[in-house]
Amino acid sequence: MLIVSLINTRRYSILLVLVILFSLGSCKHEPEEMNTNVIPNPNDSIINGVSCDPDSVYFQNDVFPILISGCAKSGCHDAASAEEDVILTSFQSIINTGEIVPGDPSESKLYEAITENDPEKRMPPPPNAPLTTEQILIIRKWIEQGAKNNYCTSECDTNNFRFQTAIRPMINTNCKGCHNAIQASGGIRLDDYNSVKAVAENGKLIATIKHDPGYSPMPKGGNKLSDCKITQVRKWIADGAPDN
Ligand code: HEC
Repeated sequence: MLIVSLINTRRYSILLVLVILFSLGSCKHEPEEMNTNVIPNPNDSIINGVSCDPDSVYFQNDVFPILISGCAKSGCHDAASAEEDVILTSFQSIINTGEIVPGDPSESKLYEAITENDPEKRMPPPPNAPLTTEQILIIRKWIEQGAKNNYCTSECDTNNFRFQTAIRPMINTNCKGCHNAIQASGGIRLDDYNSVKAVAENGKLIATIKHDPGYSPMPKGGNKLSDCKITQVRKWIADGAPDN
């Protein structure tokens, strides 16, 4: 009898503790906000990423690298400079300060700025080159398709490590905007074969994209390159960094 009541008391006290804990927890009535800024890095998300559909544009794969290397630079639209209060370093800051209207490029301030005819108002401003027609089209399509924070995974062949078909396109997308004749960040240009070869040979190309300690991680402010792309660069260098 005593034992039974002891067990019962313990049961009730456990229940009571649970009830108290539960009601404490439910005191919080703030809405659960979805943090759209925290997205899985596309390079780490082979399992969850949708495979790339050629008719779709993906923010993390296609749009973010253009804005990072074209706009989110020191002195322009990185968090420290924030020219005209525009910061283009993350999905959320791009949506907010680029005043993106999903579905409507012509109403979106960022799109207006990159397509502006008046060179005084155009972004990126002279002497920087304007975005290419292809880059502008990617951004237009992304807005038309709802300006989502999406990403996809595509086949990447580590056996393709040719300069013309693998290395150069990767550099043009991820690096050239900050490393060219007009803006040679860190004194480094990556806008032609010889300049890329020089950085390949002194070891800095592979060290920066692998995020080796002692080197500035590249692309600065952007997503780390996928393992496949890093392997392509490594193989190209091991092959003597040829120009084909
Ligand atoms: C948003 C601009 C930006 C982008 C994009 C960018 N870089 Fe850089 N890079 C810099 C700046 C600025 C420096 C100077 C060092 C620093 O401030 O971290 C630099 C320095 C470097 C250096 C010298 C680093 C060292 O430790 O000596 C290398 C090599 C380099 N970048 C390669 C690349 C490669 C390769 C890519 C593309 C995969 C790339 N960068 C993309 C801005 C950029």
